[in-house]
Amino acid sequence: MAANELEIKRWLVGLHALEEQALVQLRVARSIVDEPALAWDLASHLAETERHRATVSRLLSGVGGSRSWVQDLGATTNRLGFLVYTSVGPDSAGKLLVDSIAYEQLEIAAYRMLGHAASAAGQDELARHALAIRTDEQAMAARLATWFDWAVAESTRRRRGGARAELVRHLRYVHALATQGEVLFALAGRSLPGATLRAYAFKQRQAMRDQRARLRARLEELSGCPSWTRSLAMGTAGAAWSLAWTVQPDAGAKLTCFLFAERHLQVSALELLAREARGAGDEPTQLLAEALLREAHSAASGLEALLLSANHADHALHPDLGTFRN
Ligand SMILES: [Fe+2]
Repeated sequence: MAANELEIKRWLVGLHALEEQALVQLRVARSIVDEPALAWDLASHLAETERHRATVSRLLSGVGGSRSWVQDLGATTNRLGFLVYTSVGPDSAGKLLVDSIAYEQLEIAAYRMLGHAASAAGQDELARHALAIRTDEQAMAARLATWFDWAVAESTRRRRGGARAELVRHLRYVHALATQGEVLFALAGRSLPGATLRAYAFKQRQAMRDQRARLRARLEELSGCPSWTRSLAMGTAGAAWSLAWTVQPDAGAKLTCFLFAERHLQVSALELLAREARGAGDEPTQLLAEALLREAHSAASGLEALLLSANHADHALHPDLGTFRN
């Protein structure tokens, strides 16, 4: 089988698992959200996602492949665990929103990879399907991004302490995310395909370290401190994901998509923090969040420009994609 066909099959198997995860995420999110208009957005995308899964399943059969039960089950279990984490605490609406947007970005990146592989193989119909689904995912990501103010209002309504306590809690969350990012880029970055992507990961590791220091300084000004338990837990999760990626010999392009979603996780968390700080009248925290947000946007755009290079670099590293197993 030609390398391109194997690559297409590889993306379709992975995308089937992603759609399975998305269905779990959307069903749980729809059941815990009590805002009718957002629940409607989630229900609409749930229906779209069921169609996406059916399309991917049909396309996979068309190239002689089949779903990977191991990948599907692993993805679903992973998503359930994360949803338990996001659905507790007064900031659950914000965490759910941040995670949901990052998940859409993961799908957007993966369908972009599939479309690119399909075009390269001259499979125009497959490329059209990839583009159509990616357009749906982009539209959902844009719809979710209109709910930031609602998430801020929800955390205000549910908070146990004052505005300052809520800001400290959110600063701790963003600090823990930066810890996770630093660990991911330090460990998984070494497995990225190609020197350009590895250089990007090295730069991001330094940037995450710098961001952690700035967030910690602001926490201390507010008489708070990072949540070492949370940072340790999220750093450990980053290390576990890195390990999971590094043991897969052909995971470079998928890992790049995952890191792209990780960047967007931080973008959304900072967007939320900036709005919370503005609402609380805390200008120093707002200015810090906005500065970090600009950096995170720039880093996400930088990685977006490199996404497709991961596919090419994977080919260079693993010219015999016939070793791929699903
Ligand atoms: Fe989606």
